[in-house]
Amino acid sequence: MKTENKSHAEKGILSAMDKLIGLISFLFVVVLVMSYFLIFGFPKFSIGTAAHKDKDVSGLVSITKDGAAPVSSGNVWMAPDTADIPKDETGKQIRYGRSLIVNTSSYLGPKGTVAKISNGMNCQNCHLEAGTKPFGNNYGAVASTYPKFRPRSRKTESVYKRMNDCFERSLNGQALDTASREMQAMKAYIDWLGKSVKKGVKPEGSGIETLAFMDRAADPEKGKALFLSKCIACHGAEGKGVPLADGTAYQYPPLWGDHSYNTGAGLYRLIPFAGYIKNNMPNGATKQYPQLSDEEAWDIAAFVNSQSRPQGNVSRDWPELSAKPVDNPFGPYSDKFAVSQHKYGPYAGIAEARKKDKDKTITKKISK
Ligand code: HEC
Ligand code: HEC
Repeated sequence: MKTENKSHAEKGILSAMDKLIGLISFLFVVVLVMSYFLIFGFPKFSIGTAAHKDKDVSGLVSITKDGAAPVSSGNVWMAPDTADIPKDETGKQIRYGRSLIVNTSSYLGPKGTVAKISNGMNCQNCHLEAGTKPFGNNYGAVASTYPKFRPRSRKTESVYKRMNDCFERSLNGQALDTASREMQAMKAYIDWLGKSVKKGVKPEGSGIETLAFMDRAADPEKGKALFLSKCIACHGAEGKGVPLADGTAYQYPPLWGDHSYNTGAGLYRLIPFAGYIKNNMPNGATKQYPQLSDEEAWDIAAFVNSQSRPQGNVSRDWPELSAKPVDNPFGPYSDKFAVSQHKYGPYAGIAEARKKDKDKTITKKISK
């Protein structure tokens, strides 16, 4: 009886030891796996469709050619995929709107099939890839920020008004009726593009990048030499561009002259022009792979915008002088800087003086 009891107790101890050894080896394996992950990093489990993955790879977040650090924090706005435009009536309208942005001139240019109200350029000539290219003057922030207060008119403007600004200035043409099928379609497309952007947010990479200011004035002479080597292959030595054989649009759009944007247009200001070409021209350049230095971009901007172009109506712009951008090329100004410095820079001094004025006004208000 006793022996039997003993072996019973022994069995108990043995099975307890078995369990203990099991537990220890389990913990050992856990520690091993954890240290493997700590040393070699955790694997990334990606969710989402193949299309999403493709976008991540082609985006601006990947490593640059020379292995340098990525140029952005990875939050650059990406347009939704056109394959996801709904297949219903709304989708039809969105697709028509996109087509109007891409082929504006064939609908609304000098030989337009719908109306003849603009200069032959397409919205896409400046809002690249149908308004989707990162840092390519895209529409990523439009749906989320309009209607918005614009100091140029000192009014709250709808997206229709903003689009018509481009018709009247960038396309040196006439405004389009807000209720028209065309305007409604372009609005639908722009809303669809920005549908995932939270209200009030201006995503990274939307619109045009503002380059760091130079500490000298931009130089049209230097810009001319650069223009002759880097731009004439497409835009021509006279900046006239190259029309398509049937004359419905341009293969290479004009940079100045009668058929270009007028003096009221955004590109007639040095800061947007320099920022636009730095990340996009010669055509094919990107934020990630630019082909111009900042300095070259500023000097070319000065050259192009010193050439003649149609006069825009700017008489009612900027009722509040102190709100004028530093690079507005038309006086009067709220400051004492010369017109030429507003047109070509340097801008840091003007911006500094503006800031001091603002601070003074604020202190005055506070002490009252
Ligand atoms: C000659 C170049 C040019 C053409 C052509 C052009 N635009 Fe623009 N557009 C600009 C510039 C420059 C801006 C201002 C960008 C900035 O200040 O960041 C702008 C701004 C806009 C904005 C506001 C963007 C924002 O984020 O606030 C909209 C909307 C717009 N354009 C629509 C159009 C439409 C629609 C067309 C065609 C009918 C068109 N544009 C044609 C140059 C152009
Ligand atoms: C390889 C040809 C090519 C070269 C070189 C080139 N561009 Fe362009 N550029 C284009 C095309 C094409 C467009 C219109 C893009 C579109 O519609 O998708 C364009 C559009 C533009 C626009 C906006 C539309 C307009 O006409 O105002 C500007 C500004 C511009 N280019 C400036 C320049 C400058 C400055 C240079 C030299 C640094 C340059 N480009 C070099 C092909 C070129």
